[in-house]
Amino acid sequence: MNDLFYLTDEQRMIRDLARKVARERIAPHAAHYDETEQYPEESIRAILDSGLYGIWVPEAHGGSDMGCLALALVAEEIAWACAATATQFVDQPLGGLPILLFGSEAQKQKYLPRLATGELLAAYSLSEPGAGSDAAGLRTTAVRQGDRYVLNGAKQWCTNGDHAGVICVFATIDPSKRAKGITAFLIEPGMPGFSVGKKEKKMGIRASPTVALHFEDCEVPVEQRLGDEGDGFTIAMRTLDITRPATGAMAVGIGQAALDAAVGYAKERQQFGQPIATFQGIQFMLADMAMQVHAARLMVHHAARQVDEGIRGNTYEASMAKCWASDAAMKVATDAVQIFGGYGYTREFPVERFMRDAKIMQIYEGTNQIQRLVIARELLG
Ligand code: CAA
Repeated sequence: MNDLFYLTDEQRMIRDLARKVARERIAPHAAHYDETEQYPEESIRAILDSGLYGIWVPEAHGGSDMGCLALALVAEEIAWACAATATQFVDQPLGGLPILLFGSEAQKQKYLPRLATGELLAAYSLSEPGAGSDAAGLRTTAVRQGDRYVLNGAKQWCTNGDHAGVICVFATIDPSKRAKGITAFLIEPGMPGFSVGKKEKKMGIRASPTVALHFEDCEVPVEQRLGDEGDGFTIAMRTLDITRPATGAMAVGIGQAALDAAVGYAKERQQFGQPIATFQGIQFMLADMAMQVHAARLMVHHAARQVDEGIRGNTYEASMAKCWASDAAMKVATDAVQIFGGYGYTREFPVERFMRDAKIMQIYEGTNQIQRLVIARELLG
């Protein structure tokens, strides 16, 4: 199997560094954090120590400016080891890219250098109890009063909302305007009227905290508004155009981990007097799994490279990459459990975790039904 010939030396170097960190310092803790649902402190420390948080941040703001393909390569390696930690890692650009893409110079200077080092963690909060796929239907209101806005409402499914030092929160100045009323705000813990609510108990990525956020007459200075009133929906969607390939990359990481585990087990497991890898039925399954992962990786890399080339309007490819890669991860992880048989169904082996973790990849950052809707809209005009 050849390495990816199109990677630059720099991209290969950052991938290899992420692989080393993921295998030596993140993978050993993954099962424990999954079992205990604890915040993955040790794994986050490993990312901080290796400087990986800053790869999407421009050098002028303290990062290493390596681009979207590098982000995908690193996200894949971390997800291979622990999808919950990878979710935390990708949450940093998810919450931080709105600032990079749409922030004022003052906002960039205030947040980006600390996001680059990981001293400050970010989060992104679009979804609400009544607005998931229908993001433009969100109901958290922002009413301007002099030099501040007053926010009221509830957000849901916010990854890392309880650990973030800055959260990009989307509210509306007028719900009747739908997308055109949505406005983004940079919320910090400690703002009066802002509180973190219930932490979800999840099927997978259990070490990645997912929380509700509450706003009760929360006063937010005007300087904390990102872009203009009504820019919020564009900010939200343009950010997802970049982070959906990174989500696809996490799915590739889970798929590769499941494939690697299945190959290893098939060579060891003896039945009918021989390793099960000698049976053509197993070989065909492994070959199909390998093709799924390979195709997913190429789609993710293509979508990420479009971003790096500055090609605008990559929504179609970003949605395809996220959708295909997460469907592939789900299929591959399910097949890995099948190859492990009864053992695969126990928590003694990691493949059941891969299967649970793969599932969220088909749901968050826009369900795969929404991705198909986006793809079909592009096709049909
Ligand atoms: N880039 C720029 N602008 C965009 C855009 C994009 N990718 N997509 C849409 N827009 C613009 C449209 O052009 C339109 O503007 P005009 O009216 O000026 O033409 C405006 O935004 C409204 O767009 P639509 O009419 O397409 O809006 P819609 O209500 O039909 O919804 C949708 C579109 C694709 C369904 C969208 O709501 C969507 O993506 N929903 C899923 C939300 C989602 O992904 N949530 C996940 C949250 S993140 C997460 O999971 C976080 C986590 O913690 C891991």
